[in-house]
Amino acid sequence: MGKNVLVVTGGGDCPGLNAVIRSVVKRAAQEQDWRVLGSINAYHGILQEPREIVELDRAAVSGIHVRGGTIIGTTNKGMPSAWPIKNADGTWTTVDRTDELIRQLRCLDIDAVVSIGGDGSQKIALDLYKKGLNIIGIPKTIDNDLACTDFTFGFQTAVEIATEAVDKLVTTAASHNRVMILEVMGRDAGWIGLSAAVAGGADIALIPEIPYDINKVVEKLRTRIHHHKGFAIIVVAEGAKPKDGGVVAQKSDEVGYQNLRLGGVGYRLQEEIKARLDADIRVTVLGHLQRGGTPIAFDRILATQFGVKAVELIRDGKFGQMVAYRHPDIVDISLEQAVGTYNYISPQHHLLTTARGNDISLGD
Ligand code: F6P
Repeated sequence: MGKNVLVVTGGGDCPGLNAVIRSVVKRAAQEQDWRVLGSINAYHGILQEPREIVELDRAAVSGIHVRGGTIIGTTNKGMPSAWPIKNADGTWTTVDRTDELIRQLRCLDIDAVVSIGGDGSQKIALDLYKKGLNIIGIPKTIDNDLACTDFTFGFQTAVEIATEAVDKLVTTAASHNRVMILEVMGRDAGWIGLSAAVAGGADIALIPEIPYDINKVVEKLRTRIHHHKGFAIIVVAEGAKPKDGGVVAQKSDEVGYQNLRLGGVGYRLQEEIKARLDADIRVTVLGHLQRGGTPIAFDRILATQFGVKAVELIRDGKFGQMVAYRHPDIVDISLEQAVGTYNYISPQHHLLTTARGNDISLGD
């Protein structure tokens, strides 16, 4: 029986989104009379006037699995449940447009929605599912902060890019006898930071899960600089904070942007170290380079597996589920369960033991 499937990519982009879109289209084409459509910029394509919906057929997705970003656009501004509206006096307010969204999808004869996104997008998906929409979630984010899946796609590519940055900083640090601080993304989870520190052989890794003691950081630097190689590499996750302080963040002035914008902890760390140690220190903020470019093979494969699984769930009428990777299987779990917890690095995690076992200080 024919079906119309709508694909939506929401939240920050990440490598692998196009590979999922392609996989959904290719697998859906194996069913009889299935049609795949894409809503431009998450649900904006449906809610805005005029609508922006594109046909996703085999030709539209040909070869896109190697491309970063998403061919149907994405946004982290304007959730359907908190849609920004400008008041007459120029101020902004929000309205809930979820019922209207569901009505419009019914008018468009959409049988199922595939929501590809991070925790925010999956919360929206759960909300829509509870209101009667046939929806399947696919987890994506470079942060790897969604629980219930071993990995989200995009994460390993970000780790690869961050590791490459560490490798590059090592050669210049060694030439100048400098302390190099690399600030990486990850929001409230230290997965990218810790992974890149281990892969790149950094001296110090500061992550949100372990508030750092600046004196311990300086102690490690002293040993490293004065008694060993003369230079040092610190990887600091954007959400890292000192024991007695908070994160470095600012509220965004972009209309409809819900998140706190993290960033700048590398510079604060530089000041804190400078006040205690005579050393040349440089800061590199890796930023959005971690999200751009072609996905590595692991992420392409994971994304492609997720796309196939999502279509099979639609075929089986199993809605309100999120696909997930539980090594070695691709499974599905309820959206309710998926959005209930955040994937922090647990104190017992083997990656922490590995880091400590390789003389990487965690600043504690
Ligand atoms: O969630 C992915 C992420 O890249 C975070 O690591 C980072 O804090 C945030 O998005 C940046 O968001 P934006 O692209 O909106 O500045």
